[in-house]
Amino acid sequence: MSTSTMLSVENHDYWTSVANTFVWKKKWTTLQSGNFDEVNVEWFKGAKLNITENCLDRHLEKRRHKKALIFEPNNPSEAAQFFTYGELHISVCRFANLLKKKGVQKGDVVCFYMGMTPELMIGILACARIGAIHTVVFGGFSPQSLKGRLIDSNAKIIITHDGAFRGDKVTPLKSMVDEAITDLAKIETVLVVKRTLNEVTMKEGRDYFYDVLIKDCELYCPIVEVDAEDPLFILYTSGSTGNPKGLVHTTAGYMVHVANSFKDVFQTKETDIFWCTADIGWITGHSYLTYGPLLNGATTVMYEGIPTHPTPARFWETIEKHKISHLYTAPTAIRALESYGSDIPGRFSLKSLKVLGSVGEPINEEAWQWYHKYVGKERCPIVDTWWQTETGGILISPIAGITKTIPSYATLPLKGVEPVLVNEKGIEQTEMVSEGHLCIKTPWPGLARTIYGDHERYKQTYFSTYKGLYFTGDGAKRESNGYYRITGRVDDVINVSGHRIGTAEVEDAINAHDLIIESAVVGYPHPIKGQGIYAFVICMDHSHTQEEIEKQIKDSVQKIIGPIAKPDLIQVVAGLPKTRSGKIMRRILRKIVENDIANIGDTSTLLNPECVEKIIKDKKI
Ligand code: WTA
Repeated sequence: MSTSTMLSVENHDYWTSVANTFVWKKKWTTLQSGNFDEVNVEWFKGAKLNITENCLDRHLEKRRHKKALIFEPNNPSEAAQFFTYGELHISVCRFANLLKKKGVQKGDVVCFYMGMTPELMIGILACARIGAIHTVVFGGFSPQSLKGRLIDSNAKIIITHDGAFRGDKVTPLKSMVDEAITDLAKIETVLVVKRTLNEVTMKEGRDYFYDVLIKDCELYCPIVEVDAEDPLFILYTSGSTGNPKGLVHTTAGYMVHVANSFKDVFQTKETDIFWCTADIGWITGHSYLTYGPLLNGATTVMYEGIPTHPTPARFWETIEKHKISHLYTAPTAIRALESYGSDIPGRFSLKSLKVLGSVGEPINEEAWQWYHKYVGKERCPIVDTWWQTETGGILISPIAGITKTIPSYATLPLKGVEPVLVNEKGIEQTEMVSEGHLCIKTPWPGLARTIYGDHERYKQTYFSTYKGLYFTGDGAKRESNGYYRITGRVDDVINVSGHRIGTAEVEDAINAHDLIIESAVVGYPHPIKGQGIYAFVICMDHSHTQEEIEKQIKDSVQKIIGPIAKPDLIQVVAGLPKTRSGKIMRRILRKIVENDIANIGDTSTLLNPECVEKIIKDKKI
């Protein structure tokens, strides 16, 4: 007997009416099929479409001269760039024609390893136009990480920049690509977009400059019709165990969910200017910088740099300059900017702002209040949006200006979304006021359908913990008014500055160093980043200073994963608390770094209880 819950008639009707607002080449025969038991969810089966027709072509009649994209460069003295819907359409068509010339066909995977410039957005849309699958790798990942993703995704073409600007630094992306693909013969083409003009080495017959090739590309490229369930993109994200997972989002469901949630949550009007500060290397940059706004014919802002460059006034300056109405950013950025003083946003006119958004990690009450008071001037609603790479789009969030907000509450599920809380045994908590692991009961269109090349792992990760439910990996509380408060991850994933990092991945990178015998990594509360990375390590010998060990470990993690995963604190220990079967008790380490020593619990059953006291005595915070 199936334990999965079917879509209700109400939700069926709801998603039908939402889907009817898009342009389809052929309508679906089945709105939704499959379930969480068999893990075979599909939406809009039988339909044919192209997402770029919905993002671009259908707006041309009314919005050809409306701004689609505003690009704000890293350096404020460089002029901003503007693309109308008409211009963006042409740019996407030309890029699509270029991809075709390079042999890219429907179903091929194209990898992007780029800084944040318009060519990145144009490039992924160009893939979608011809039915190719994009996979964007965040430029903060190391060549080794990039290589792993290239192998896993079977990409044959990679698009990069000569270098990327980030604050006062240049990341030499092309030479990082060279390093990643030295022994990857299957990469046939490297396309290099010029940006920083740093010197690059070009390999004859493999590497090409984009600006040279694009000149000869036609201004129009017809759409390729794809099936509703054809993959649109693969995006890698970290989990509790193993290598990063390539989540696969399919075309129609993702489109419908992302467009609809954008419209619902942010309540944009035709003249609004929407700024999502995320990098396109993350899901937020896919869903609410690119697809969500464009599907709604909105104006989207793309920023190349970092919040504090050249000064911590950059965000507020940019809001004033482009008359931004919606700012969607992460709590870590809010806390970082708050730390420079509340007077800074006050020096700029932020009167264009209407709605503020938060995403990526729990927003603490203090940051919420600061955002509300100093940025929103107590008149802009804050939408604390909860969702994940896997969910495609927002699932729990206030509706701007409609839902009454309470600091640090993501509030209510969007229409058509059915969250449940379960206890550790998997029993659904039916009392309104309850706490537990957050699961989703019925399919929604934006759900990632699989892990690329490993459906078994997908089943295992999300659908095996609680039968018939999608398990999010987050904990949550529900109040008497039905409001949800997300309390954070309940698995071995940590959230550093809104970036998901798997503790096992960091441990593997540390253990790869000859100096290290064993390590355990946990998250600890960090005033700006939300969580910091705390590594406990056992060294091979005792001849090295703390500084040497720290440098070696950080270098190793940077090389294997990238700078974002470098531990903040490293403690050399003689032993790690283990169960009698040899499993590291991370729970105890977590309590130690959270300074919750009273709740460590009984350590007498450990294999080596004596190490706990020593760890507490030497801890770094
Ligand atoms: C966390 C980012 C609290 C959560 C869109 C989730 C949040 C993970 C919120 C997904 C929020 C995201 N409040 N926590 N509003 N939004 N999270 O895949 O732990 O990068 O599981 O997607 O971020 O991170 P991901």
